Amino acid sequence: MSCGIERVQEARLAAEELRSQVNYHDYLYFAKDAPEISDAEYDELMRRLRAIEAHHPELITPDSPTQRVSGQPVEAFGVVQHREPLLSLSNAFDLEELQAWHRRATGLAEVEGFDMVVEPKIDGLAVALVYEGGRFLQGATRGDGLRGENITENLRTIRSIPMQVRGGRVPKRFEVRGEVYMSKTAFERLNNQRADEGEPLFANPRNAAAGAVRQLDSRITASRRLDIWVYQLGWADDGKTPDSHWESLQWLDKLGFRINPHIARCRDPDEIHRHYEEWVEKRHGLEYEIDGLVVKIDSLDLQQRLGYVGREPRWAVAYKFPPIQTTTKLLKIAINVGRTGSLNPFAVLEPVQVGGVVVKQATLHNEDDVRRKDIRVGDTVIVQRAGDVIPQVVGPVMSKRTGKQRRFVMPKRCPVCGGEVVRPEGEAMSYCVNTTCPAQVFRWLTHFVSRGAMDVDGLGEQWAYVLMDKGLVEDPADLFFLSREQLLELERMGPVLADKIMTNIQVAKSRPLSRLLFALGIRHVGSEIAETLATEFGSLDAIAAAGREELETVPAIGPKIAESVRAYFRGKRQRKVIEKLKRAGVNMKQKRAAPAEGPLAGQTFVVTGTLASMTRSEAEAKLKALGADIGSSVTKKTAYLVTGQSPGSKLQKAQQYGTKLMDERELLRLLRSP
Ligand code: IVH
Repeated sequence: MSCGIERVQEARLAAEELRSQVNYHDYLYFAKDAPEISDAEYDELMRRLRAIEAHHPELITPDSPTQRVSGQPVEAFGVVQHREPLLSLSNAFDLEELQAWHRRATGLAEVEGFDMVVEPKIDGLAVALVYEGGRFLQGATRGDGLRGENITENLRTIRSIPMQVRGGRVPKRFEVRGEVYMSKTAFERLNNQRADEGEPLFANPRNAAAGAVRQLDSRITASRRLDIWVYQLGWADDGKTPDSHWESLQWLDKLGFRINPHIARCRDPDEIHRHYEEWVEKRHGLEYEIDGLVVKIDSLDLQQRLGYVGREPRWAVAYKFPPIQTTTKLLKIAINVGRTGSLNPFAVLEPVQVGGVVVKQATLHNEDDVRRKDIRVGDTVIVQRAGDVIPQVVGPVMSKRTGKQRRFVMPKRCPVCGGEVVRPEGEAMSYCVNTTCPAQVFRWLTHFVSRGAMDVDGLGEQWAYVLMDKGLVEDPADLFFLSREQLLELERMGPVLADKIMTNIQVAKSRPLSRLLFALGIRHVGSEIAETLATEFGSLDAIAAAGREELETVPAIGPKIAESVRAYFRGKRQRKVIEKLKRAGVNMKQKRAAPAEGPLAGQTFVVTGTLASMTRSEAEAKLKALGADIGSSVTKKTAYLVTGQSPGSKLQKAQQYGTKLMDERELLRLLRSP
């Protein structure tokens, strides 16, 4: 007897301990974005807690993490009550667990067997979209499953969400569910940009997507390039809808919803497992992250009969992939010199398997990032690999810290050439100032000839290295003075390749100015800014001669880019290179964009807050049609700030700059006036 009580006591203590651990890690993950343990370790804690609670239901407390569905709605968005709750899924981590789920469902359904639909489990965030009369009416986050946030305006910016369904007869009102996500490419681009701007980085595409969808300013959402996979018909008011999940996906596809193409119908767990094994590898080739497969019983009638346990349906299960996060030791922080001279720290790790690949190195972005995450040499760190995205160090495992770890300091001298290192004010990056630093020149050269730049096919990294090593090329302009004979003297260079390279170099001379500008490797001038500069100014000379003020009149260009462009063209070496390029006959011109026409031409408008009569993007489109430039933030250049309800920080900025304000009535008058 006493023995039983003791066991319950022990279980109670263990459950309490697990709950406090899970709460602590939840806090680190969700509130601080600085987890100390891997997802797999976290899942293990939850599993142990669930196991205890399953044995001792009397120990379950209402505030136990097992009783919670994550995500409280934020009031600022307005709360949406879901007509039918958005459910979560129970997990299976191996074939045995999948078989157990299947056996249970078969037993309960009292059937011989059933078809199942197997879909990728997209790692994004769930949304519910309501359509009325075929038009998109409202979109919401999952929230706690019962109530979510109204994010309609932000979802409107996602191009793959149809605003109007295709095809004739649809139910008067219906709801579809799907996963909003950010592609791996968009995620990398966003993080690179944030690193450049010294902003904290997102740990993974899911966090980035969640952040984008919950922006109060939908223009920010729009700029983050989100996408959706629709995976379920939620509810429908009237009209005929299909009898099976598979058919409902086909039906939704016809209506114009984006349905994932990698969906299969299977009959038994072994078949599903084979499919799973394939995807464990194949998933890395996808443009988005998936963390497992979702298995759903196809018949909707059977789904209904099986019902739910708590918030989890008995008719579906998530078959999760092994984790792509692990822990390992950080041996050293080394430095890589980029093409703009940036010193990029990276982690040298004790080799470790992550998601089926051995990882030895991981990016650390910049000094601030290392400091913010408090990563020290000698730490045990969490390493994460997201598909073919470069491995990352998520953060240190604090509990493994012994005091022997060393903080990272940026070297005062360039590790390659010994040149001086400076960190410009307000920037997150440190730079080697020696423009003849071999590492810098090498990166510059390979960037110069790369696809998006001058695109000299055939001249890869290896040849760039050889050309530098032989002293034939000291900067990209030298490429245009190479002779066929010089190339033929190089080891392993045959006449065919030499001819090809010579031709491609000739062709590169006539690339548009925007390509050349990008190829020059001016800090903060990516391909888009290069395009803008080229079409605004029309020639390299005009850009080089432009003063800061003049550069800043271009809407997309702020003080940081303007200063960087100025500094570039002031540089002695850069000027020499440009002279050489000119002598070689490289094109330095591009047709200028016709200036915007209309009564508002030359004036920049910023729209903020909620308007009553139209959405912000509609207002912007209308202003644009009258020739106005649209800014995303208030600067000195802003002519008018159009303010709707709850304008926020932009209003303060406008007051600070003395920007003219315009309310909705005035805006409507302006839009009406001929
Ligand atoms: S079905 C009961 N299908 O996974 C049905 N969910 O852990 C639950 N998810 O909240 C949703 N891909 O955010 C379903 N193909 C897919 C999914 C999927 C990702 C997410 C969804 C859901 C979570 C459940």
